[in-house]
Amino acid sequence: MLETDKKLIINGEEFEILLTEEQIHNRIAELGRQISDDYAGKTPVFIGVLNGAFIFMSDLLKNVTVDCEVDFFKLSSYGDAKISSGKVKLLKELNCDVNEREIIIVEDIVDSGLSIKYIENIFSEYNPASMRVVTLLRKPQSLKYDVKIDYIGFDIPGKFVIGYGLDYEQKYRNLKSVYVLSK
Ligand code: IMP
Ligand code: MG
Repeated sequence: MLETDKKLIINGEEFEILLTEEQIHNRIAELGRQISDDYAGKTPVFIGVLNGAFIFMSDLLKNVTVDCEVDFFKLSSYGDAKISSGKVKLLKELNCDVNEREIIIVEDIVDSGLSIKYIENIFSEYNPASMRVVTLLRKPQSLKYDVKIDYIGFDIPGKFVIGYGLDYEQKYRNLKSVYVLSK
């Protein structure tokens, strides 16, 4: 897999660039500024949803200028497939105490909204002072659950995407751009 072309062939399927490195980085800089403005004088806890959010979280935090803390939470919903299993499993709990804290959940992508709904239900029991969600990508046509997303990098078509943290059978997370299945 070489990221030299605008197209990638994976398992005989063609993927094309949807978002370039430059588009992603420019948008993340804006999100970082907006979040820093909104949380001025506060110390939010950013909670990354593993595995997909790790690259976005890292680049986002480099653009956040308020003091903050970091933790991770792990769910599994896709398995190795291209379509959501419709089930969510908790694989790693939070390690920090978020009681009375401002928390910001960091997702790679909101598809059906099931994962975010599940996370919000769990986290609300921890009694945070506030809870917001930032996602790099959202597929508005795929939403099945009523979830409020506070910061959205890009709204994209309801097609399968890979790269920049997002996997296909656990691979291709290390691509610098976001690619979409052509057909
Ligand atoms: P949801 O629970 O249906 O909103 O799905 C959210 C999770 O499914 C994301 O955090 C991703 O890990 C995964 N996911 C959703 N769409 C895609 C995609 O197009 N490519 C890779 N992973 C995806
Ligand atoms: Mg995910």
